[in-house]
Amino acid sequence: MNKTLSVSAIQNGTVIDHIPSGQALRIINLLRLLDKKCRVTVGINLSSQRLKEGKDLIKIENYTLSSAEANKITVFAPEATINVIKNFEVTEKIITQLPESIEGAFSCPNIACITRMEPVESFFKLEEQGNGVKLVCHYCEKIFDRNQVQVKI
Ligand code: CTP
Ligand code: ZN
Repeated sequence: MNKTLSVSAIQNGTVIDHIPSGQALRIINLLRLLDKKCRVTVGINLSSQRLKEGKDLIKIENYTLSSAEANKITVFAPEATINVIKNFEVTEKIITQLPESIEGAFSCPNIACITRMEPVESFFKLEEQGNGVKLVCHYCEKIFDRNQVQVKI
């Protein structure tokens, strides 16, 4: 079978693969990739054998994610595979774990939340539940899923 890549192979950098369809832009904002000035290529709604509903994919050239950055990805893509590429070869697959909490990155969807009125950083605890990750606002204690919170940009 002729296997072609929808997004070209890279020489050095990081490939975040098997992102559930629709989550790539959230991850780009969460990792602040637009500020890093490195070359980023993104595939959205690509076909995947593993993810029947399709996948997104992000390739970041000449950049290695810190483990804190890699762990943040699990909020939106627990099943993502994160590959370190050196000289066109996959040299490492980064193992991630859900962080306990994330400060400052999201805005609370609850318009009555104190974080929406006062200049305080948002603070969400993360909990893994059977049907996905839940984000619990430390201030208003409301619980949200990954598609409800907005990543601050
Ligand atoms: N990749 C890339 N540039 C390279 C090497 C690999 O962009 N020079 C990408 C591949 O296209 C793939 C990911 O990195 O999206 C992982 O590569 P590889 O481990 O070879 O893929 P798989 O065998 O499909 O591994 P897995 O099922 O763990 O994703
Ligand atoms: Zn809140």
